[in-house]
Amino acid sequence: MRHLISIADLDRADIERLLETARALDGIEERLPTLTGRLVLTLFYESSTRTSSSFELAAKRLSAETMSIRATGSAVDKGESLKDTVSTLSAYDPAAIVIRHPQVGAPLLVARNASAHVVNAGDGKHQHPTQALLDLYTMRQAFGGLDGLHVAIVGDVLHSRVARSLTQALHLVGAQVTLVGPPTLLPRGVEADGVATSTEIAAVGEADCVYVLRLQRERMESAHVPSLREYAARWGITPERLRPGQKVMHPGPINRGLELDGRVADSPDSLILEQVRAGLAVRMAVLHDLLAADAPVAEAAAVA
Ligand code: NCD
Repeated sequence: MRHLISIADLDRADIERLLETARALDGIEERLPTLTGRLVLTLFYESSTRTSSSFELAAKRLSAETMSIRATGSAVDKGESLKDTVSTLSAYDPAAIVIRHPQVGAPLLVARNASAHVVNAGDGKHQHPTQALLDLYTMRQAFGGLDGLHVAIVGDVLHSRVARSLTQALHLVGAQVTLVGPPTLLPRGVEADGVATSTEIAAVGEADCVYVLRLQRERMESAHVPSLREYAARWGITPERLRPGQKVMHPGPINRGLELDGRVADSPDSLILEQVRAGLAVRMAVLHDLLAADAPVAEAAAVA
């Protein structure tokens, strides 16, 4: 694997390998020597807590040096300035560049202008492949397998790179997806790709796992929802809308009381903190795969 820009870069075998590598690395608290002397650069042009912190920690756990650059995208001419930033930082010879950017395609632009391996940590509404991988990892741990699993992805699907990446990834591993939300927040034409949709919130009841999306207010150009109060009433995931024991996930950050009731978020059926934990192992696995594919994971772990 040269870069990880989109789930479309992966086939089922790649996903299996990455999840296996993550499992081998999961829970190892010592530093592994795998990436000693290599530099991992993280460039975040959009806000992030989980993704940026877990990439940085993942790189450190593999003994890489890290350099973290944060910028807000609003005031800069993104195309040119991003190229300039990348060529400047390339002088330090990074082995990998992890980038989050509001503009679709920014990670590809970086990949074309740098010799480093590039990981997309979220580009606009397009893709967030490591989130999809950590979600698959979490589901596999919770359900024992992915083939035939039924996942309802509910809420603001239209603006969600998480939903886009996860739908593709679940499809690759043989799981079934239903996108649930108001008609204004469901993308058009997805049924043609074999994805089921429903505009009835009750449809979540049929799924093994309910994956709740954040209402992406920052990406809404016009009034996609009548009012937040009405959205919460009609689409919010409350204990009453779930079957006992039904598992719930959310990529974070949560708008408590809007798309997800706090009682659900904090219940024993919530996998949300598992997702955060999985983020570290999965991002270690991705860096390992891109930068040290020949180093056997098990041996690396045994050394430590
Ligand atoms: C997501 C993102 O930024 O795409 N969050 C994350 O990476 N944990 C989802 C979101 O912001 O709603």
